[in-house]
Amino acid sequence: MAKILVEKSGPLSGTIKINGAKNAVLPILAATLLASDKCVLEEIPNLRDVSVMGELLTALGAKVSPLKDGCMEVDPSGEILGEAPYELIQKMRASFFVMGPLLAKNGVARISMPGGCAIGARPIDLHLKGFSALGAEIELGHGFVEARAEKLVGTTIYLDFPSVGATENIMMAATMAEGTTIIENAAEEPEIIDLANFLNKLGANVKGAGTDTIKIVGVESLGSTVHAVIPDRIETGTYMIAAAMTRGNLMIENVVPSHLKPIIAKLRECGVEIEEGDDYLRVDGKNLTGSVDITTLPYPGFPTDLQAQFMSLLTVTEGTGIVSETVFENRFMHVSELNRMGANIKIEGHSAVVQGHGNLQGAQVKATDLRAGAALILAGLVADGVTEIGDIYHIDRGYVAIEEKLRGVGANIRRVEEE
Ligand code: EPU
Repeated sequence: MAKILVEKSGPLSGTIKINGAKNAVLPILAATLLASDKCVLEEIPNLRDVSVMGELLTALGAKVSPLKDGCMEVDPSGEILGEAPYELIQKMRASFFVMGPLLAKNGVARISMPGGCAIGARPIDLHLKGFSALGAEIELGHGFVEARAEKLVGTTIYLDFPSVGATENIMMAATMAEGTTIIENAAEEPEIIDLANFLNKLGANVKGAGTDTIKIVGVESLGSTVHAVIPDRIETGTYMIAAAMTRGNLMIENVVPSHLKPIIAKLRECGVEIEEGDDYLRVDGKNLTGSVDITTLPYPGFPTDLQAQFMSLLTVTEGTGIVSETVFENRFMHVSELNRMGANIKIEGHSAVVQGHGNLQGAQVKATDLRAGAALILAGLVADGVTEIGDIYHIDRGYVAIEEKLRGVGANIRRVEEE
């Protein structure tokens, strides 16, 4: 089992280039199943989750080229099976994204139910509510969910919560439905817009992505396309926090600054200076000062995927910061790990009260999920001594070459293989 060792590092300085967004790539890879011919995807990050999705598409019958120079080709023109294997679905929750495309393409999809995960139970009721409203018969049993429809028919679907995955899955299912589908209270994340752009390039008719009402007019069939994925706003935010915490100065390139409004605003409230370019952000943490409160919310609110990393920052700012998590019910697993490093964080219901003091000490800790792992690396950069992070396969799910990128800007970090 590999580990990451982080030692206290001075102010980080230099340039970091951001990769394509994991959470845009995964649904777009699933959506390639809807195409009639080979799709070429660019700016694809070399991540564990991406290779799992590639394996899943292959298992379903698509021809998937190995990732090379950020480029991946998927040819779904042969026979595509309606059933996804249990082993792959269990490896990654986002595998469930193939349900909508399979239902649209084959009229049937049988997929093993995704389990819970470290950050919460994460049900799929809203996905199923959407498929059912489009006319699919849903059957649950023996750990599987099966959806069948001779034809899908457009309708209006109101989501009780603006779920990212449900919005994406329903959008994909509706592309070839008869008539018009309207998703109300849809998620507005930039990754939804990227998926809609990809679908429209294939010949779909999706309007309103990025707002709370998405309209999909069904088309007969979809073609093929070339698409470059948007930059990863969560990777960007993680390095912005690294610059702030170490009181460093980082130039972060290949960024869409408008996707990062809440993190830019909150870091500025903590005294961090941020210059916004067209496709870069310069983050200067030399005047990092007091704590602030954050509340996670669906986009454009503060992203839950940066909550853990921001909590690390609040352990070194002056005063008390309150972190309220409203998107997932159990996304505070990093708190006990940060406390093992000397942080002073108390959980009160859905909030964590962080008393900043800046005296973190290196310790042996575990990445309990992807973003928790990133938060521990950030804490390790400012903690005295060595921080030894285990279970780093979580981190490899979502960050391309995180040690190399951080080492390139002066961090003392390395990966070691354990016996
Ligand atoms: N929810 C339901 N029913 C559903 C679907 C969701 O109750 O049918 C609940 C969830 O349990 C959760 C909330 O709605 O409490 C939000 O879940 P959502 O569906 O929006 O999340 P997701 O699609 O499962 C994506 C990202 C997550 C990110 C969330 C929120 C991907 C592959 N994953 O998950 O990313 O945290 O949106 O922004 O896009 C990560 O990258 O670390 C990560 C966990």
